[in-house]
Amino acid sequence: MTARRAWEPPFIQPHRHDVSPFGRRGVDDDIQGAIAGVDIETLIDRWGSPLFVASEGRLRENVRRIREAFASRYPDVVHGWSYKTNYLGAICRILHQEGSWAEVVSAFEYEKARALGVPGPRILFNGPHKPRAILERASAEGARLHVDHLDELATIESIARDRGTVIPVTLRLNFDTGHTEPWSRFGFNIESGQAYEAAVRVKASPHLVLTGLHSHIGTFILEPRAYGEQVRRMAGFMAELEGEGHDAITSLDIGGGLPSRNALQGIYLPPEQAVPSIDSYAVAVCGALERAFADRPRERWPTLIFESGRAVVDDAVSLVASVVGTKRLPDGRRAVVLDAGVNSMLTALWYDHPVRLTRPVPGAPEETVLYGPLCMNIDVMRRQVRLPPLAVGDRLVFNPAGAYNNTQWMQFIEYRPAVALVGEDGGHSLIRAAETLEDVCRPERMPAHLQTGDGTR
Ligand SMILES: Cc1ncc(COP(=O)(O)O)c(C=O)c1O
Repeated sequence: MTARRAWEPPFIQPHRHDVSPFGRRGVDDDIQGAIAGVDIETLIDRWGSPLFVASEGRLRENVRRIREAFASRYPDVVHGWSYKTNYLGAICRILHQEGSWAEVVSAFEYEKARALGVPGPRILFNGPHKPRAILERASAEGARLHVDHLDELATIESIARDRGTVIPVTLRLNFDTGHTEPWSRFGFNIESGQAYEAAVRVKASPHLVLTGLHSHIGTFILEPRAYGEQVRRMAGFMAELEGEGHDAITSLDIGGGLPSRNALQGIYLPPEQAVPSIDSYAVAVCGALERAFADRPRERWPTLIFESGRAVVDDAVSLVASVVGTKRLPDGRRAVVLDAGVNSMLTALWYDHPVRLTRPVPGAPEETVLYGPLCMNIDVMRRQVRLPPLAVGDRLVFNPAGAYNNTQWMQFIEYRPAVALVGEDGGHSLIRAAETLEDVCRPERMPAHLQTGDGTR
């Protein structure tokens, strides 16, 4: 005898025209009951819902694969882990164990890298705001200072003068690759001559020496040729300076920007088709480097530094959320309320994160809108995804979810959820506890005249 199916009320599905001509992105057909081999219900029982779950194995595999793509094509390659992408201590520690340096963009991130034991010379210090105190510390500890503007250069020079030393600097450059929107607000512009002037200024100072060039041409770059052009422009600038007797530049840092296999809103093709392979980026970069330096001995090829963030961590972290309510909207759409929203996964504002069920759910799939728990209209996790009828307690897994969420998440209305790590041995542990009232209120202070009162009057 066949099992009886649950009765479902009939419905009329409104036909919508605002969808991709390539078809609708729906929930992936396959069910995902485990993360890195650990049953999702076990993880939720232990750590609660919602829950971020990181896979140590995937993270190590990603960084090895990405670094190897470049290192197999160029003799001297360094990966700087972009802290802002995910600066949970355990995530950074794993990447440092894998040999990645730290790429930081603030005093906080610098201090965090040092607290995690990263030596100064393995820290790439970017960012437009580096107060004098942190520049003093970072330069004394031998960090690589990537200069953003002339005022910063003057501060570094004055620190060196006060100490009677010479501080090596890297200039951050910006320029138009013709493939990406130029990020002209960071660093010195090549086309306008600012970058050249900055280099001249460094050369004229007895307290500064230019040893590196840096640029970061954008993020989620879907065109590998953009990197080829970036390298060509940077190498051209380097040759121009060296031809005029500047000191030898020993490193070219091409920033980050490699895309992850996530679904950027507005891009119709699924990530597997829209996102080029990492190898195609490495071929573009290393091919351009070889062409640029063909006429010099290998010992004089600069170190290639890259600062990939999202491509390394995004698919190594998932977010598991639970259904807390269901409803039908007046326009006929099915809606589901989840316990995690844009407060936990801010990147839902610009990605249609692939989402999976953790168990088969009977019933006809329908276009469904996924809301988060916030009492705010913007809290939408997916505007439209085909899902069967869900019930309270059902789980959804969002992946990739590891880039820019555990840093940009906010304590707004709800507590921030826990983050667990599934280790390579299949064991799991907490790498960030769920927030409590005490955590949220710890920095608050009550003035003396407000100390009494119980809220009844
Ligand atoms: C200077 C710099 N390097 C690296 C990154 C990492 O970028 P992505 O995550 O796109 O690889 C960023 C991100 O904005 C950045 O500003």
